[in-house]
Amino acid sequence: MVEDIEKLKEDLKIVLSDSRYNHSISVMNMCEALASKYNVNVKKAKLVGLMHDMAKDMTKEEKIQYVKNNNIECSLIEEKIVEILHGKIAADICKKRYQFDEEMCTAIKYHTTGKENMTLLEKILFIADKIDETRNYEGVEDLRELAFEDLDKAILKNIDDTLIINIQKNRLILEESIKTRNNLLLSSEKDKNM
Ligand SMILES: [Fe+2]
Ligand SMILES: [Fe+2]
Repeated sequence: MVEDIEKLKEDLKIVLSDSRYNHSISVMNMCEALASKYNVNVKKAKLVGLMHDMAKDMTKEEKIQYVKNNNIECSLIEEKIVEILHGKIAADICKKRYQFDEEMCTAIKYHTTGKENMTLLEKILFIADKIDETRNYEGVEDLRELAFEDLDKAILKNIDDTLIINIQKNRLILEESIKTRNNLLLSSEKDKNM
């Protein structure tokens, strides 16, 4: 596995705009802090944080072409919201070019929507991406605090807030987000009944 952060940063600088590059560094730092807090492999967390958006600045056409050339499965919704494919593409590149392990690739693949039964690493990347220091939407400070108190609650809050916005704006909703939400609610019910 390629672990040389400086080398990866150089690669990233080539494919990302300055602002996206800065966001990536900031997500890496947030992943590091959360990984320390939750006793997760800090190296892995930093690497996924750094590389999660590496495919984001590809054009729509480049994304479609990449998915076709590499036989990546694509749902009907993903064909409509091509943007969302950046996670799957980055995961594929990180696996092939940098030999990231399966958990790291899954974390990158689902960083936008989450998935059912997320590992701590997957949860950390999901929320770090929404609360890194470059984010300044209303409520982000509270969400940042919550992420260091209860990862699941922070993820649920982010999904709920995002769903509301997407509904208000009449946007398509990705199934994975709903599955993530239901799964987190069900597992918190289970915890309560234990
Ligand atoms: Fe992203
Ligand atoms: Fe991101």
